[in-house]
Amino acid sequence: MSQPQTTPAWTDDNLMSLQSHILSEERHHPSATGDFSWILSGISLATKTIASKVRRARIEDVIGDAAGRPFGERDGINVQGEQQLKLDVIANEVIKACLGSRANIAALVSEEDQEPTILRNRESGGRYAVFFDPLDGSSNIDVSVGVGTIFGIVRLPDERRVSGTEAILHEKATVAAAGYVLYGSSTVMVLTTGNGVDMFVLDQSIGAYVLVKSKIKLPDSRRIYSINEAYASRFPAGVSRWLQWAHENDYTSRYIGSMVADVHRTLLKGGVFLYPQTNDRPEGKLRLLYEAMPMAMIIEQAGGAAVTGSGRILDVAPEALHQRVPVILGSKEEVAHIQRCLDN
Ligand code: AHG
Ligand code: MN
Ligand code: MN
Repeated sequence: MSQPQTTPAWTDDNLMSLQSHILSEERHHPSATGDFSWILSGISLATKTIASKVRRARIEDVIGDAAGRPFGERDGINVQGEQQLKLDVIANEVIKACLGSRANIAALVSEEDQEPTILRNRESGGRYAVFFDPLDGSSNIDVSVGVGTIFGIVRLPDERRVSGTEAILHEKATVAAAGYVLYGSSTVMVLTTGNGVDMFVLDQSIGAYVLVKSKIKLPDSRRIYSINEAYASRFPAGVSRWLQWAHENDYTSRYIGSMVADVHRTLLKGGVFLYPQTNDRPEGKLRLLYEAMPMAMIIEQAGGAAVTGSGRILDVAPEALHQRVPVILGSKEEVAHIQRCLDN
């Protein structure tokens, strides 16, 4: 008689959905409360919905601004003083609708909203704030280039006295998880809960994110840079010096103009992504809470570095919800070299 088979150990070949992955991570942490599975299931639903809207953008004729004016005649302006496209608004509403009923979320902070959406206080169970850029690179939708959603989940301080924006910007608020979804040739979610970086691809046929790569590691160096070089005459001298050196040292350049797509390539292939300050934008363009900070956590968790030029992005103490910071992130050695050029 044959012996009963023992259950095989987990192998890389097993099919793992985002949901099962989060549940299994939580099982390894006895103190886990199920908070992440609750929040991430909302983000999963929202981003699947946005993915479907993005794919159907042309078909459903949603290209245009929030007021429905055709391309070229837009004047819908968001809180950043930038053009607001119809899909930015839709993506924002979808995320708020999917996260609004999650009982442990205290507040939602969106690129598209001047003020945070306060859902509940600490007494009513609100322990987290979720920061998001609902649609990053949205001007690229017109030309069917990859766009994305960026999010950060922040654990709020325990003090019951602080609430609202004060709690969100509090020094004891800590980033607990970060991720992005790239709506590209496939829909990809990259996620970290502080235990490495995992990548999931949306299998449209079953409607689930499936784990395709865990514990992503960024190469320490790679001769690729990603920067909008049209602004070269306005960069800090250190960045210009480094670029000059890169030109003479066999670097190649890749710049899509969607942060999610540029960071995703940097994460997988290595190299460095920069959006430095310029003479006319001394604080840079990218927003700390829902662009720079989530990407910095992902890149650091993958073994890379993410700095502003004067320190780690993750060490910046936020002073305002829509604050901007210069961003230099990617392979450790490339970032360190740029930092040396900035310091000299
Ligand atoms: P958003 O669409 O959310 O406003 O972000 C656009 C950002 C980012 O995706 C990208 O890295 C950057 O703008 C590109 O800016 P430039 O056109 O100045 O290069
Ligand atoms: Mn953006
Ligand atoms: Mn955006």
